[in-house]
Amino acid sequence: MKIILGSDHGGSDYLKEISKLLETMKIEISTPCGFPFESIDYPDVVKRCVEDYNKLKADFIILVCGSGVGVSIAANRYENIRAVLTSNPYQAQLAREHNHANCLCFGQRLYGIDQVKEVIKIFINTIGSEDMRHLRRIEKLGDLDNG
Ligand code: RB5
Repeated sequence: MKIILGSDHGGSDYLKEISKLLETMKIEISTPCGFPFESIDYPDVVKRCVEDYNKLKADFIILVCGSGVGVSIAANRYENIRAVLTSNPYQAQLAREHNHANCLCFGQRLYGIDQVKEVIKIFINTIGSEDMRHLRRIEKLGDLDNG
């Protein structure tokens, strides 16, 4: 499994913790923007992460900012990205099963790191449902008109 990690300055402490967790799980990670200490704009981080995700044919992206909102809005603007902002384990499971979410977002200011780690483990270990109704709905997401 290969996971792309990104944060702005508001999420870099948690991103470091997440990278340590994934390393102990022997998961291959890429952090194209490192662990920013200086101010960096979240749309720029997300752009680099999505580019890496596509180039490396990675499995998932995990993004952190102060609230989680900025990175999730930015990520969902990309055609092939289905990002979910959640700290709830069951919602993370459903996001994988029903929506084939491929990007998980957190807000460092809002949740404890243990909760974040629990949600990550559930998210990356849950398989997307192959049920036709879910596949049909996911396919329709690709048809949405941005204009
Ligand atoms: C940075 O201060 C903060 O605005 C950012 O991390 C994020 O919360 C934006 O949505």
